[in-house]
Amino acid sequence: MKKTVIVTGGAGFIGSNFIFHMLGKYADYRIVCLDKLTYAGNLSTLESVLDKPNFRFVKADICDRAAVCALFEEEKPDIVVNFAAESHVDRSIESPDVFLQTNIIGTATLMGACRKYGVARFHQVSTDEVYGDLPLDRPDLFFTENTPLHTSSPYSSSKASADLLVLAYYRTYGLPVSISRCSNNYGPYHFPEKLIPLMIANALNDKPLPVYGKGENVRDWLYVEDHCKAIDLIIHKGRVGEVYNVGGHNEMANIDIVKLICKELGKPESLITYVADRKGHDLRYAIDPAKIHRELGWLPETKFADGIKKTIKWYLENREWWETIVSGEYKDYYERMYGDRK
Ligand code: NAD
Ligand code: TYD
Repeated sequence: MKKTVIVTGGAGFIGSNFIFHMLGKYADYRIVCLDKLTYAGNLSTLESVLDKPNFRFVKADICDRAAVCALFEEEKPDIVVNFAAESHVDRSIESPDVFLQTNIIGTATLMGACRKYGVARFHQVSTDEVYGDLPLDRPDLFFTENTPLHTSSPYSSSKASADLLVLAYYRTYGLPVSISRCSNNYGPYHFPEKLIPLMIANALNDKPLPVYGKGENVRDWLYVEDHCKAIDLIIHKGRVGEVYNVGGHNEMANIDIVKLICKELGKPESLITYVADRKGHDLRYAIDPAKIHRELGWLPETKFADGIKKTIKWYLENREWWETIVSGEYKDYYERMYGDRK
C-alpha cells in the first residue's frame, strides 16, 4: 500500500542510509526528507536519489513550527521518522544549547504537527546512551528497555528528554509513537568526526590517531543497514507506545578498533596518540536486543569483521565525499545546487 514517509535528518549518516533502504524496498512509497543541513548534513550524500519522482528534499529546521506544519499540510504523511538531531557527544560538551533546542524542542515540534495532521506513526530514533554506562568489569550486564534512564552527557540527556516527551505524548494525547534505542552505528556516509570514520580518514592521510584516555572504553557496534532494517520493522510491525533496543552484541574497546583499522589499511600503530580523556566519558555500552528479536524477528545480518571491511572499502572508494567534508568544501554544495533556484 502506498504511504508517504517524512524522514527528518535524512542528509545525515543514518537517515541517508534509511532513505536508500526505503526507496530500494518500497517502490510505491513517497519519501520526503526534511533536513536543516547543519554542518553534519550533506546534500551530496542524497545526490543519487534527488531526481527520483517519489523523493523530495526540503531544507527546513524541525524546530520551525510554521515550516513543519506547511510541509505536513502539503504531504499529509502517514509516517514520520525522526533522525534529525545534534549527535556528537564532544560538541554537546562544548556547546549544549543547540542540543536542547534541536533534540528536545524539535522533537516536540514534530509531534505537535503529527497530532494536528493525524499522523499514523511517529517514530523517534533514540540511542542506547540514554541508559548511561555500564562498568567495564561486569560483562554480564546489558541495557534492557527497562534499564532506568541515567544520562552522562548533554547529548544523551537531550535524547533522554525527548524520549520522555515522546512517551508523554503517547500517554496524554494517544499519539501513536514508537522509539528505537540503538547502539553505535558504523558504515558509509558516517561523518568523519566520529571514531571509525575519523580514524580511517586520519590513517589514510598518515595523521595521528587520537585515542581518548587509555582507549579502554567499550562500544557495541552495529552496521548501519541493520539499524535501518530494524526501524523499517518497527514502523510497520512494532507495537505503538513501545521502546525497542537495537544492537548486535558486538562490543569492542576503542583501542582494538583503532588497531584493526591500522591493520586493514597497512598503517603503523605508531600513528596512535593517546590524548586527554573526554569529560564524563561513558565506560561501556551494551544492548540486550532480545525484545526486538522476540517480537519482530530482527537479527543483525552483518558481522563486524565483514562490516568494517566494507566500510573501509567505501571510504577508500569515496575519498571525495569525506575529503570535501574534512576541507569544509561540502558546505558550498547546497548553494551550488539550490542557490539560484527559486
Ligand atoms: P548525523 O549528525 O550524521 O545527522 C544528523 C542530521 O540531522 C544532519 O543531516 C543534520 O543536518 C540534521 N539536523 C540537525 N539539526 C536539525 C534541525 N534542527 N532540523 C532539521 N535537521 C537537522 O547523525 P546520525 O549519526 O545519522 O544520527 C541520526 C539519529 O540517530 C540521531 O537522532 C542520533 O541521536 C541517533 N543515533 C545515532 C547513533 C550513531 O551511532 N550515529 C546511534 C544511535 C542513535
Ligand atoms: P563517538 O564516535 O564520538 O561515539 P559515542 O561517544 O557517541 O559513543 O566515540 C566512540 C568512542 O570513541 C568513545 O568512547 C569516544 C572515543 N573516541 C576517541 O577515542 N577518539 C576520537 O577521536 C573520537 C571521535 C572518539
